[in-house]
Amino acid sequence: MLPIDLTGRRALVAGVADDAGFGFAIAKALAEAGASVCVGTWPPALGIFKNLLERGKMDESRTLSGGAMLDFERIYPLDAAFDSMEEMPAELRENKRYREVGDCSIQGLADRVRADFGNGALDVVVHSLANGPEVKKPLLETSRQGYLAAVSASAYSLVSMVARLGPLMRAGGSVISLTYMASEKVIPGYGGGMSSAKAALESDTRTLAFEAGRKYGIRVNTISAGPLASRAASAIGIIERMVQYVGENAPLTDHLEAREVGTTAAFLSSPLASGITGSTVYVDKGYHAMGMAVGAVG
Ligand SMILES: NC(=O)c1ccc[n+]([C@@H]2O[C@H](COP(=O)([O-])OP(=O)(O)OC[C@H]3O[C@@H](n4cnc5c(N)ncnc54)[C@H](O)[C@@H]3O)[C@@H](O)[C@H]2O)c1
Repeated sequence: MLPIDLTGRRALVAGVADDAGFGFAIAKALAEAGASVCVGTWPPALGIFKNLLERGKMDESRTLSGGAMLDFERIYPLDAAFDSMEEMPAELRENKRYREVGDCSIQGLADRVRADFGNGALDVVVHSLANGPEVKKPLLETSRQGYLAAVSASAYSLVSMVARLGPLMRAGGSVISLTYMASEKVIPGYGGGMSSAKAALESDTRTLAFEAGRKYGIRVNTISAGPLASRAASAIGIIERMVQYVGENAPLTDHLEAREVGTTAAFLSSPLASGITGSTVYVDKGYHAMGMAVGAVG
């Protein structure tokens, strides 16, 4: 048996606020492999998430294959659009959802993790978050502000997380983010600078793999996932059609499950993947390999 064994390791998964997205599936797979898992949750979604957990609404999806429950070691507030609280506009800081949670910047997250677990606290960091306020607008109609907001929340946030959490990671650790092939091929409808943000994320994955590899001995990879009807993807407005299209045109016609991205992330986080860094790993039923729609030839 060749096991994925993460016993004794700690993961931090940023971008979990329900049980429908990739972040939750990755957290679950890491826990299945024996890791303890902390999550980072966007303050506007934090109350609802905790409430769902407390009321047992996620008990079924939190049940691991051995029967035990996925329990989050910590749920940290995180707004990955800010590196420190000084950067946050006063208006947002005073907002009801932010006032109560304290320092939810990336530096604040790093400080909390260090205070809770000390240096060498983390083995796995997952960046499973994105935000593009103008995602429904074509690139040609995207404002500078909307474009920069997408790149800031969805791509620079990874750079900042590696810079601030890297020092807390043990050598051999793994950083994983989630990307989408709109970075390299045109996906009509995936607008607002989100395609640009994913291109930056993939390029940064290579550079961060080099820099953080040399500095901390950690690996940095990104998973290019196929479409999934998560909460974030529903904001795009055409996700059901995207899922259906991939089902009709990919080499494998069954629809992608978040679980399949979770198990890939667990593998990439394990010593079994110790030779893999700087890579974009496709988990998309092979759709990226196609160059022509199947329907076009009958
Ligand atoms: N769903 C898809 O079709 C698809 C395909 C490829 C890649 N991805 C990527 O997967 C990742 C996870 O998305 P998902 O589709 O699983 O949806 P999701 O809704 O489960 O995850 C997105 C998370 O980002 C959080 N978030 C938004 N802005 C934030 C901020 N400023 N700070 C901290 N958290 C913030 C949201 O609260 C949410 O929890 C994203 O990077 C997304 O682009 C998704």
